[in-house]
Amino acid sequence: MNNMEVCGANRVYGEIRVPGDKSISHRSAIISSITRSTVTVENFLFSEDCIRTIEVLKKLGVRIEKIGENLIICGEGIENFKEPSEILDVGNSGTTIRLMAGVLSATNFLSVLSGDKSVNNRPMDRIIKPLTEMGAKIFGRANNTRAPIVIFGNHNLEGKVHHLSISSAQVKSCLTLAGLFAKGETEIYQPEVSRDHTERMLEYFGANIIYDGKYTKIIPDRELVGKNIYVPGDISSATYFIVASLLIKDSRILIKDVGINPTRTYILDAFKKMGADIRIKNIRTVNNEPVADIETFYSPLSSIEIEKEKIPNIIDEIPILCVASAVAQGVTTIRGAMELRYKESDRISAIASEFKKLGVNIEEKEDGLVIEGNRKLRVREGVVQSFGDHRIAMSLAILSLLSTGRVTILDSECINTSFPSFKYIFKSVIN
Ligand code: S3P
Repeated sequence: MNNMEVCGANRVYGEIRVPGDKSISHRSAIISSITRSTVTVENFLFSEDCIRTIEVLKKLGVRIEKIGENLIICGEGIENFKEPSEILDVGNSGTTIRLMAGVLSATNFLSVLSGDKSVNNRPMDRIIKPLTEMGAKIFGRANNTRAPIVIFGNHNLEGKVHHLSISSAQVKSCLTLAGLFAKGETEIYQPEVSRDHTERMLEYFGANIIYDGKYTKIIPDRELVGKNIYVPGDISSATYFIVASLLIKDSRILIKDVGINPTRTYILDAFKKMGADIRIKNIRTVNNEPVADIETFYSPLSSIEIEKEKIPNIIDEIPILCVASAVAQGVTTIRGAMELRYKESDRISAIASEFKKLGVNIEEKEDGLVIEGNRKLRVREGVVQSFGDHRIAMSLAILSLLSTGRVTILDSECINTSFPSFKYIFKSVIN
């Protein structure tokens, strides 16, 4: 197991690019595979999670190659997927298991999806139930609530109207992908807006899809035509370095070519409300996704109250938002975020316990966290746990930049699930 050692920083400075967006990378591989086109994906995120998606698709007979830095996917349609002779192992990737379950429900063979301890402990009834209502033959461990999942592919899925009780882009995407192969239309209503990368990519490939905030409708009457994709930088990865620059005096960071899809950018609005100097430059659209450069400067921050309906928009950024809140004057409240307990780790409990060890004044609530910030915060030296969760490990690394001594983050190789070059960029911009 790998540990990461971090000491206090004097300044964070530089011009960087962060790796490709994780959500868009998964979708580029999966959606291209079900077209009958050859698609070149530029800036694909070759992280452990996304490599799992590629491996799963390869086990289904899809030809995928890495040529130079590009990923080439030779789509031949779902009808040419082959029954896998092994279990499809998704590792730590919730996106792989949930999106692939939607596609595999519409094949004509048997498949088994399984992951690591964390994935096999995460709720799968949220996809098993609605897929079953569409006619899928899908079964899971623990009374149909957990992976491993067994799927007997069914050609006769039926479109359905789904009213989901949670807002999850993984669930919505799973049902949208199944809906592509169903008889009739599939409609999905969610309580709040979640990321819309699947909808945007399907639209870019010519699907008959209507989407607007909490609503998505797929009408499966058109053939998808794959087109080349450039994956913008991942805003979730960019946020670690944005916060690093906000925390440390005299800092400035310019992050080029970052995805600024509005279903993902509430974190920037939140930072601005907290008093951050953030400048969005050079906005353009690339394959149906908005992209920009983000420049940030050291800023004294004030606390914020996060509204419940914004939680799905910042779900992956809450750990790093807690870091910013630790130095924001006043009390920051994050409530209505129960979903955090079902991520790669129980993030509410992980943030509370490890931040406390470093001296942050933080209180765990059942559905969130309350943090009393201090602009003069200096964190204690010590040893903290990542719980095998990449976002906890990276957030702790950024918080440790405020240390008076040395902080050791245990089990930090989990960072490779989403951001393999994190440690390298970290070293290059932190003085
Ligand atoms: C993702 C959706 C979110 C997010 C995850 C990626 C996606 O999960 O936390 O990191 O790519 O669709 P939920 O759908 O479970 O909220």
